[in-house]
Amino acid sequence: MGMTEYALTDGKGINLIPKELPAEAILSVIALPGITSYHGLFEVLKPEAGQTIAITAAAGSVGSLVGQMAKNLGLTVVGVAGSEEKCQWLKDELGFDHALNYKDADFAEQLTQATPKGIDLFFENTGGAAQTPIFERMNAHGRIAVCGLIAEYQKEVPDLGSSWLNIIKKRLTIQGFTMPDHFHRIPEYGQVLGGMLMKGELKYRAHVIQGLESAPSGLNLLFDGKNKGKLIVEL
Ligand SMILES: NC(=O)c1ccc[n+]([C@@H]2O[C@H](COP(=O)([O-])OP(=O)(O)OC[C@H]3O[C@@H](n4cnc5c(N)ncnc54)[C@H](OP(=O)(O)O)[C@@H]3O)[C@@H](O)[C@H]2O)c1
Repeated sequence: MGMTEYALTDGKGINLIPKELPAEAILSVIALPGITSYHGLFEVLKPEAGQTIAITAAAGSVGSLVGQMAKNLGLTVVGVAGSEEKCQWLKDELGFDHALNYKDADFAEQLTQATPKGIDLFFENTGGAAQTPIFERMNAHGRIAVCGLIAEYQKEVPDLGSSWLNIIKKRLTIQGFTMPDHFHRIPEYGQVLGGMLMKGELKYRAHVIQGLESAPSGLNLLFDGKNKGKLIVEL
């Protein structure tokens, strides 16, 4: 319904949510971040226990849920984030196997060490510095879900990105997706995510800013990486 204090609706597209859950949990886990992470992981990447997955913007609202679900399935999870605090949170609180800072000069070497068996699945949220090193570590028949490219959103001319040669050499499957195509599945995804949340399988953190007037400048937190978790405007 956009950023608004009031909205008029005929009820179409409105979903009932469980009363027991706090609003922050619903916005952080069951709303867009949850359905995006669930769809991207299960419908696009189709994970199997024992595989290795790399996730960019891993400490963000989407990436942090992808990593936890992958970990619960028995994958080796490598998260990529832009600060030591975020990397620490991923390892200590969320149980990621590795969390690497893409701003480190030796990021590519750290990635090689963290992925001795290569990378089978890549959940891409950012583009930018981490993309090519991850692309280079992909295993044959690997799958890449392109969910977001936040490093590109403010550029007039997008980066060229990684060489397509690897797509042939490694027989990669790369698939972009956007959630509006899949909004009809919200009731189904919401049920599963609500269940995981109630069982304590998904942790989240919400970054709440106050008042509609804080929204335009608050949006920039996503671009400078200062948001810690789901960015929410409280009215
Ligand atoms: N396909 C869809 O339907 C769909 C739906 C929802 C979201 N998305 C996309 O999914 C991605 C994650 O969304 P979110 O809501 O979970 O946001 P988020 O991860 O909570 O916040 C964005 C994060 O991106 C990182 N970032 C910003 N600029 C960067 C850069 N130049 N290079 C590398 N990392 C950068 C920052 O984290 P660091 O501190 O780690 O740098 C920032 O905190 C976004 O690209 C978004 O557009 C797509």
